[in-house]
Amino acid sequence: MTAVGIDAVEIWTGKLKLDLPGTFAPEKGDDPEKYTKGLGLNNSSFPDAYEDIVTMGANAAHRLMERKGLSPDDIGRIDVATESAFDNSKPVSTYVAGCLEQVYDGDFHHANKGERKFACIAGTQSLDDAYNWIKAGRNRGRGALVIATDTALYARGDAGEATQGAGAVAMYVTEDPDLVELSTHQGYGSADETDFLKPNQQFPSVDGKRSIQVYLARMREALEDFESVAGASHPDQYEYIPFHTPFPGMVRKAAVLGYRHMIRGTPIEEELAAEIGELPRPEGFAEDEDYQEAIREYMDALSDTDAYREWYAEAIEPTLSVSREVGNWYTGSVHLARLSALRDAAEKGTDMAGKKLLVGSYGSGAQAEIHAETVADEWDEEIEAIDVESQLDRRYDLSFEEYEEVHDRHNHEKQTELEPFTTPDGEFVFDGWGRMNERKYTYVE
Ligand code: CAA
Repeated sequence: MTAVGIDAVEIWTGKLKLDLPGTFAPEKGDDPEKYTKGLGLNNSSFPDAYEDIVTMGANAAHRLMERKGLSPDDIGRIDVATESAFDNSKPVSTYVAGCLEQVYDGDFHHANKGERKFACIAGTQSLDDAYNWIKAGRNRGRGALVIATDTALYARGDAGEATQGAGAVAMYVTEDPDLVELSTHQGYGSADETDFLKPNQQFPSVDGKRSIQVYLARMREALEDFESVAGASHPDQYEYIPFHTPFPGMVRKAAVLGYRHMIRGTPIEEELAAEIGELPRPEGFAEDEDYQEAIREYMDALSDTDAYREWYAEAIEPTLSVSREVGNWYTGSVHLARLSALRDAAEKGTDMAGKKLLVGSYGSGAQAEIHAETVADEWDEEIEAIDVESQLDRRYDLSFEEYEEVHDRHNHEKQTELEPFTTPDGEFVFDGWGRMNERKYTYVE
């Protein structure tokens, strides 16, 4: 069977940053450790005045095409996933194609373009679409450009303001990929939920605490569904487990639940029983309340064991490193987690070829999806070619007043003018409005 998966990846971070413990926390009257320890965030990325979902997506795609020596003829699909779209009809992928056509000979007239929406899980769904298109043999030897791009902004004063971010991940999906092969097996956990939504409005309506519970419930369902086709999973089976990361603290909660599930009935559970007691089973309790209390106590004890801590430090913590510095990129977030994991492996010199990842995606509203990935032989060359550090380092560090101006600039209802903080250099920029109220873009040398 032909292997299909991600051949290459590039990112583009918004060119501004907000220091959460240093700049944001004091203005909010918060303890900086709420951000660094509670939520697990140091900085958020923001778009400069001339950036938006199109420029970030097109710039990530351009980097990827340049690095891989691709031309428009190599691309048979452009799928954009976003929950920050500004047009209910014309997809962002057409704008991205228009940008790329400014800098390449040839065009994307024979590429299928679309836009996927299901909150943050749409990036993974776009990967699925590309995978299925190739597996169906409809690609004529071409690959798919999958772009996850978002400006994750919340209304000023909303609790979600602490978890904002902006950036894009571009992925090239092909046969015999150089980075990871996707599994055919998938598991879903999906239900009609009202946890986070944007009913024809730019900034989300969020029930933050409930959104955390819905994330965990749907992720658990997805894991059970995945195991129903792929067999029981075990902590030693996967080198890394990248999750959708709205903020790293969310993943901390998901990881302990996942670990508890995976060790059930294994020798690990037996060994830990001597230390923290048996995993409570519902049949052992007359009242559900007592069972829930016992589970909470068991989870607290479990997360303090050496076995759990070691597993977390190896399989989970490394997936969070970029997210800590950029915040939530919604559709791109789980794909940043995969990238962080593979960067960690490259830094440590781990031989990842043939090793497995378990990838947990989530979108509010709500749906989780779990699939496995097998790392390809050429993965390390790919990862070493991606320059994440310099993008993070070059960001302009905003004061709180400047952050307020940037938020207003990107508020669709305000659209205030703002002098950019950075200078564009070899990138696409937003440069005004066309006659039908369309956004216009130019490439700046
Ligand atoms: N030192 C250490 N930790 C501290 C602390 C301190 N001084 N102060 C607070 N904390 C901890 C808290 O205990 C809490 O951790 P636990 O949940 O583990 O107890 C954490 O820091 C956050 O503190 P609060 O719960 O008090 O924070 P909050 O009420 O301001 O809201 C939030 C947090 C609900 C996540 C909010 O930021 C929010 O609504 N975010 C947007 C929604 C979101 O991201 N939901 C995630 C699931 S939905 C999803 O994944 C889709 C998506 O991308 C949006």
